[in-house]
Amino acid sequence: MEFCRLGVNIDHVATVRNARGGHVPDPIRAAQLAEAAGADGITAHLREDRRHIRDLDIDRLMATLNVPLNFEMAATPEMLAIALKHRPHACCLVPEKREERTTEGGLDVLSQRDHLRPMIEALNAAGSRVSLFIEADPDQITASAELGARVVELHTGSYCEAFVEHNALKADHELSKIREGARLAAAAGLEVHAGHGLTYDSVKPIAAIPEIKELNIGHFLIGEAIFVGLDVAIARMRQLIDEARQG
Ligand code: PXP
Repeated sequence: MEFCRLGVNIDHVATVRNARGGHVPDPIRAAQLAEAAGADGITAHLREDRRHIRDLDIDRLMATLNVPLNFEMAATPEMLAIALKHRPHACCLVPEKREERTTEGGLDVLSQRDHLRPMIEALNAAGSRVSLFIEADPDQITASAELGARVVELHTGSYCEAFVEHNALKADHELSKIREGARLAAAAGLEVHAGHGLTYDSVKPIAAIPEIKELNIGHFLIGEAIFVGLDVAIARMRQLIDEARQG
C-alpha cells in the first residue's frame, strides 16, 4: 500500500508556552524536532483568539520549515488575508467556535457554499492546496469536490471517542463511515486526509484505509513527548502507521 504521510500538529506546545506567557517551550523548535524525527509536514492552527499559535509563530514556521506547512484556519476574512500573505503549502479550513476546547465536528460545507467558494478560489489561485475538514458524510464530500477543494480531511473525532469509551460497536460504525467516505472522496478526485484524537491505540484501523494519504496528529503526540520525547513519540506513531499500511 502507498506510503501515508504523518503531519504533526504543534499547537499544544504553544498552549504550554502561553500558560506562562513567555517564550518556552518554543513551538518552532518542536516543529524542527518533529521534522528531524520524520514528520512529513507540520500543522498549526491560528485561532481567532490566538490561544495557542500566534501570528509570529506562523511567520517563523514559514521562514524555517523544510517540510510543508498545513495552515489550519477558520473561514474568515482575517484568516484568508493571513493565508494569502504567507501562501502556505496547504490551508485546512475548519469550523471554529470561541467556546470550544478543540475543533468540534466538521465544517458544514453544504450550507456555506456561497461563503466558501470565493475563499477556495482565492487560495487555489495563490497556490495553496485547500483542504476542508469535514465529517465523512457523502453530501459534505460531494459539496467539497464541487467547490474545487483539492483535499478533504475526514474528522476522526467520533471514532476516537468511541475507541476511548471502549464502545466497539460505535467505533466500528464510525470506522465504516470513514472508510466509505474515503472511497467516495477519492472517487470524486479528492485527496483524502484524516485526523483528530488519534492515538497509538486508535491509529491503525484508520491508517489501513488505502485512500487516506495523510494523517494529522497533535494532542496525543505532544502529550506523549512529555514522557518519552517528541522524536520517540513520532517514531512510534510512524511505525504503527507503516505497519497498518503493510496490512
Ligand atoms: N486535523 C484537524 C483539522 C484539527 O483541527 C486537529 C486539531 O487541531 C487535528 C487534525 C489534530 O487533532 P489532535 O490534536 O486531536 O491529534
